[in-house]
Amino acid sequence: MIGDVIITGCAGLVGHAVRLRLEREGVSCMAVDLVPAEVEGRPVLGCDLVDMPRLRELTAGRSVAAIVHCGALSGPAVGRNSPLQQVSVNIVGTANMLELGRELGISRFVYVSSVSAYGDCHGEDLDERTPLRPTNVYGATKAASEMLVIAYAADFRIPAVSLRLSMVYGPRRETACCLRDMLMSGLTGSPMRLEWGHDLRRQPIHIDDAAAAVVGALKAPGFRQGAYNITGGVAVTFGEAAEIVRDLLLRADILLGTGMVEGDNIQGSHSIAAAARDLGYRPQVDLRRGLAGYADWLRDRPGPEQGGAGA
Ligand SMILES: NC(=O)c1ccc[n+]([C@@H]2O[C@H](COP(=O)([O-])OP(=O)(O)OC[C@H]3O[C@@H](n4cnc5c(N)ncnc54)[C@H](O)[C@@H]3O)[C@@H](O)[C@H]2O)c1
Repeated sequence: MIGDVIITGCAGLVGHAVRLRLEREGVSCMAVDLVPAEVEGRPVLGCDLVDMPRLRELTAGRSVAAIVHCGALSGPAVGRNSPLQQVSVNIVGTANMLELGRELGISRFVYVSSVSAYGDCHGEDLDERTPLRPTNVYGATKAASEMLVIAYAADFRIPAVSLRLSMVYGPRRETACCLRDMLMSGLTGSPMRLEWGHDLRRQPIHIDDAAAAVVGALKAPGFRQGAYNITGGVAVTFGEAAEIVRDLLLRADILLGTGMVEGDNIQGSHSIAAAARDLGYRPQVDLRRGLAGYADWLRDRPGPEQGGAGA
């Protein structure tokens, strides 16, 4: 790859993991996030995604090969009370990154979308032809951004793709995450009581697999469709995940009710067959091993308070 890969949201969970993976392969990355930062000793440039003049200024004169767009208000719970801000950051931010890519003449754009774009789903092994019917503003911002990605790809011949990630877990996750709260209960012995979650299904994906999928999309020779489901491959309820946590950490004291989280959606299981075929994507970290590693990480670094289910 000749030129830099711009990674937005690079102080965040997915962006940082993608950066580490690319830099290990010798790829030069330009890391961007809302405020300047240093993450594990690596500098991140500050720029608001909605500030197009600043994005242009940062990239002026640089050779840029690709953009990985991870920057967003991530998850239905983040910015739930400021839906217009979700729209601005997530949709306008994506439009700005696509436009920047057009101006810079990039050869690949990878947009990190979400299965939240589907809204409520009840089926098994649903492929990417499943209609997008988002049930929260966050999901709508992901669906709308995907449309922009498709339009820029068609109109300006930018090889661009959207990856619909399921719930990502693992070290460095800072946003609300039910799995982390379960592990914290196991590590501290503190009770975790929720009125919801027991029957809520997700296909958790470990951060290492999510980053591998993004890198796979950067390297893929081409795309046969505009979007790909990227999950951990196995659907579990939070009740089943709690069983694994109890088995790993005997002190876990978790009681989940059968209600729903306000603003969250029902998720079926999403097929990853197309991603396996076109991106060479195959999840490597099974849930039990991933949770054990996440617990090891949390042991040294207690996380924030209990929150929502996680995207
Ligand atoms: N974490 C999940 O479970 C999950 C699931 C599906 C999809 N996704 C998607 O993956 C992407 C990355 O999410 P993540 O989990 O790494 O979240 P994260 O919150 O860890 O990282 C997102 C980053 O975006 C940055 N950001 C927010 N507003 C910004 C702005 N105005 N300008 C510049 N940067 C801004 C934040 O500072 C943050 O560092 C997002 O697009 C999210 O929608 C995440």
